[in-house]
Amino acid sequence: MRSGALTLCSAPYTVFGDRMTGRFQRKMNPQKLSGFLNRTIQIKTRTISPAIVLAPMAGLGHIATRHLISKYGGFGLLFTGMCSANALPHENRDVSLVFRWRNEELPHLVCQIFGSEPDVMARAAQRIEKEGFFGVDLNFGCSVAAICKKGAGAALLKDPLRCSQIVSTVRQAVDIPLFVKFRTGWEDNRQYAADMARRFEDAGADALTFHPRVAPDRRSRSPKWEVIKDVQDAVDIPVFGNGNLFEAQDGLRMFEQTKCNGLSVGRMAIARPWLFAQWSNQFQPDDSIFYSAPKSYLELLSEYYNDFFSLKFFKKYLPYYCANFKFGHEILKKMSASKSMEEAGDKLNAVFENLPQVSSRPNLHLFL
Ligand SMILES: Cc1cc2nc3c(=O)[nH]c(=O)nc-3n(C[C@H](O)[C@H](O)[C@H](O)COP(=O)(O)O)c2cc1C
Repeated sequence: MRSGALTLCSAPYTVFGDRMTGRFQRKMNPQKLSGFLNRTIQIKTRTISPAIVLAPMAGLGHIATRHLISKYGGFGLLFTGMCSANALPHENRDVSLVFRWRNEELPHLVCQIFGSEPDVMARAAQRIEKEGFFGVDLNFGCSVAAICKKGAGAALLKDPLRCSQIVSTVRQAVDIPLFVKFRTGWEDNRQYAADMARRFEDAGADALTFHPRVAPDRRSRSPKWEVIKDVQDAVDIPVFGNGNLFEAQDGLRMFEQTKCNGLSVGRMAIARPWLFAQWSNQFQPDDSIFYSAPKSYLELLSEYYNDFFSLKFFKKYLPYYCANFKFGHEILKKMSASKSMEEAGDKLNAVFENLPQVSSRPNLHLFL
């Protein structure tokens, strides 16, 4: 499966450009990052290592994506995309698009739920515990209108008391590790984020994932990593920093600037599912991985879903994958015209007759 050559990369490599500090060139020793990552994090009574996890992503973090990421390894935990707490107690894992897993991944799989009612969230958490997941994650961060209109996701951050009720009710209902993922809030107020972090900890959360953007922002403006430090300073439970981790140097910088316990990586792990192995184990693939990874992904999608959903999920993945390349928008245009999985495979083969030029930072115009 791994066609990228596995070599240990010990020589410092050169890094060009940085979104936060302007244009510069510096050397980064990859062992410095893996030193941070290869630490152990205690979450309730369990431990995880490396200190890097896949962020929850609806429509992207499904069973096929997680299977592909698992082939490379190098992560501490994987998170499902958000599942409706209302629906979850009745979901059938054999047919559900989102509440579906491989038994092998349960020891490091956390299921994320969204909802607005404490009791409903607690019942969903009990099902998650019963199925044997590592933990349950509560969504206090999604700012999509359809979710906020139901009073769920980031909408809850307008009602701190309800946030406490939800966390403490779920805490009483289950023993597995309880995670909370949240954002800065609805205003650019650092103190509010730190206060909410303390509130979540007091209500019984075992770990936090913090995405330092205000809710109306979605992903348009850069996240303010300094707020991760405020959140980290406010609590004693582990904090995973999230937002715009694209290259190894970003991971190192987030650890150094925020003192967070671990990293939570979203979109870039879709673009490069081997990223966890590369950052934590210094797995150094060659460029053939840009062909072998999507090829395996097509196969995995077809293994888990019918042609309709495989193609739908593949098209959702394509912008992130194409963001790897210098002229990725052209590749995206060609490949997203595919009408079947077979055609998508043929188009991938055609694109790779000449290896497209790879960029070290993704083309953010293609990242959604
Ligand atoms: C397509 C997509 C779906 C997402 N779905 C969820 C979700 O279900 N739950 C959640 O907490 N965050 C969700 N997020 C937010 C990510 O977990 C993460 O906070 C965000 O992408 C920033 O991290 P990144 O810069 O590493 O991608 C989603 C993001 C994307 C791009």
